[in-house]
Amino acid sequence: MSFRIQPAAPARPNRCQLFGPGSRPAIFEKMAASDADVINLDLEDSVAPSDKDSARENIIKAISEVNWGNKTLSVRINGLDTPYWYRDVVDLLEQAGPRLDQIMIPKVGCAADVYAVDALATAVETAMGREKKISFEVIIESAAGIAHVEEIAASSPRLQAMSLGAADFAASMGMQTTGIGGTQENYYMQREGQKHWSDPWHWAQAAIVAACRTHGVLPVDGPFGDFSDDEGFRAQARRSATLGMVGKWAIHPKQVALSNEVFTPSEEAVAEAREILAAMDEAKAKGEGATVYKGRLVDIASIKQAEVVVRQSEMIAGG
Ligand code: COA
Ligand code: MG
Repeated sequence: MSFRIQPAAPARPNRCQLFGPGSRPAIFEKMAASDADVINLDLEDSVAPSDKDSARENIIKAISEVNWGNKTLSVRINGLDTPYWYRDVVDLLEQAGPRLDQIMIPKVGCAADVYAVDALATAVETAMGREKKISFEVIIESAAGIAHVEEIAASSPRLQAMSLGAADFAASMGMQTTGIGGTQENYYMQREGQKHWSDPWHWAQAAIVAACRTHGVLPVDGPFGDFSDDEGFRAQARRSATLGMVGKWAIHPKQVALSNEVFTPSEEAVAEAREILAAMDEAKAKGEGATVYKGRLVDIASIKQAEVVVRQSEMIAGG
């Protein structure tokens, strides 16, 4: 380990973030009743320009009126290239009350984007005497966002989570796809007449995980658009979990259970992790740094891997 210790990410469950348009208040109660760990009320791209003001009002009203339980409550504001975002921040912090936990900043391209929202949020919070500091989450969904991912991850102590937004990312990168995440028909390798589909999101996800883990931020996989394809969602989510992401968005309520299923370590995985820890305890007592567990090498690194699984499961159970 470097002399600089890797900071821990916020210890709260973030297995699923359920989205809903701010212009559709009829679903807010249903969102609150869901099993999602995080709720994202949207002011950005699921809301038409003519509805921006009324969506903001709907959200501000619902934040204090709806019982959101112990969920993390986040509002996605409009991008910094629009005329809406400053009013989103000001009205939310002046009027929404203390229940609001987080602001999601979309299409972040550099650390200065986060700095700008931080400066505005700090001024409004101070003026209002707001005791709970609002936290931030960002979406990496542009070429600039991924090119500057590390400085963005380090941009503000308010930053708790970072998601990959596949659709805008694909558009910004000029990728030939209109799908929102998942396997892409033309991204394959071919051998002896057999196609093998590869993962075009892999490197962006890995870059996000590395930046997040370096700076104590939660890495999250974004939307999977085809909500009729459960197996496609599962496969995408399992790849993300394998790479170190802690959760995924749901753009339809039926995706919540799928996401929770994948991002909650299974009983078998937790039992195995505990057995590895016990095997290493025994090895250590004998003065050995490595031992054999079910025919596999386990060593001091295995302790850290097993602890990730056990910690994640304990945190979810406690949350
Ligand atoms: N959260 C909670 N409940 C939702 C919901 C959501 N995001 N979307 C739909 N529902 C409810 C519906 O009201 C309906 O409830 P009912 O059974 O009591 O009538 C039920 O879930 C089934 O809905 P369904 O008819 O399958 O979907 P729909 O056509 O009403 O809505 C979408 C489909 C995709 C338009 C809608 O889910 C949605 O707006 N998703 C979020 C989009 C978004 O926020 N995008 C921005 C981030 S990418
Ligand atoms: Mg987007």
